[in-house]
Amino acid sequence: MEPTTKIWMDGELVDWADAKVHVMSHALHYGTGVFEGIRVYHTDEGQAIFRHRDHIKRLLDSAKVLGMDVPYTLDELIDANRETVRANGANVDYLRPIAYLGGQRVGLNPIGVDVKVNIICVHMGSYLGEDMQANGATLITSSWEKPSNRAAALSAKICGNYVNSVLAKQEAIRAGADEALMINSNGNVAEGSGENVFLVRDGALHTPMVSDAVLEGITRNSVIELARDEGIEVVQRSMTRTELYVADEVFMTGTAAEVTPIRMIDNRLIADGKPGPVTKRLQALFANVASGRNQRYRRWLDVL
Ligand SMILES: Cc1ncc(COP(=O)(O)O)c(C=O)c1O
Repeated sequence: MEPTTKIWMDGELVDWADAKVHVMSHALHYGTGVFEGIRVYHTDEGQAIFRHRDHIKRLLDSAKVLGMDVPYTLDELIDANRETVRANGANVDYLRPIAYLGGQRVGLNPIGVDVKVNIICVHMGSYLGEDMQANGATLITSSWEKPSNRAAALSAKICGNYVNSVLAKQEAIRAGADEALMINSNGNVAEGSGENVFLVRDGALHTPMVSDAVLEGITRNSVIELARDEGIEVVQRSMTRTELYVADEVFMTGTAAEVTPIRMIDNRLIADGKPGPVTKRLQALFANVASGRNQRYRRWLDVL
């Protein structure tokens, strides 16, 4: 990834090369941070931050779950994100705000440890690759189970939760697949390492429930709303891995992955192995909405 110009650190824009964190930071040792990934789209009106308020609300909710007091309000964080995008020019397309415990002492006790907030803004491009967006990505079921809701606070984007996703992603890439499919502790489908999963069956969309150990994705929520507005039925329910194998279509959603068709899971082609009509329709609709060409969802864009 190419460095950009400025990183926002606790209220100040600093040069990329000077954005340093102390090695004793609590978060480095124990994963005690929360973060967001937010797309910046290029619209005719200018750069636009997608569902900005919803992402910052989720960041603050994640911090609440972790018991961390973020020293900025929602509106202050929104202003800081805007300032960071502006400072990094026209090419950036992805924002990564992160709030974490700093400090300089050994020990798990987080009480009283400083909370730091940094905002990074980069050019990411297509996360899974242009070819996967067009022709579909391949998945393998991970041997790593998604922790249960008893073991982790999964609806919060807590840094430490992502070790599980990293293990799964590494396993998938080493096996020659593009992404991992994670199964939850009940044996049902959870999500990808950083994406939610949908299947299409008889024209209806099905996706795991939030209680199936998934992150409540903002792209998931957007696609559900777009689909319902298009008259497509959406069912949130637990589903098995084998239902995905025999689905008419499968796709994943995420800020980074946007809407990505899935063409193969565990060496089984999904239908004929080509992106299906419902996936293509929602993918095109999402792209139109994100780039500001569909005024009906203009409220999702925070144009700078
Ligand atoms: C584990 C996980 N699931 C799902 C998602 C998709 O969520 P969103 O659409 O809000 O990016 C992400 C990415 O944020 C994620 O990390």
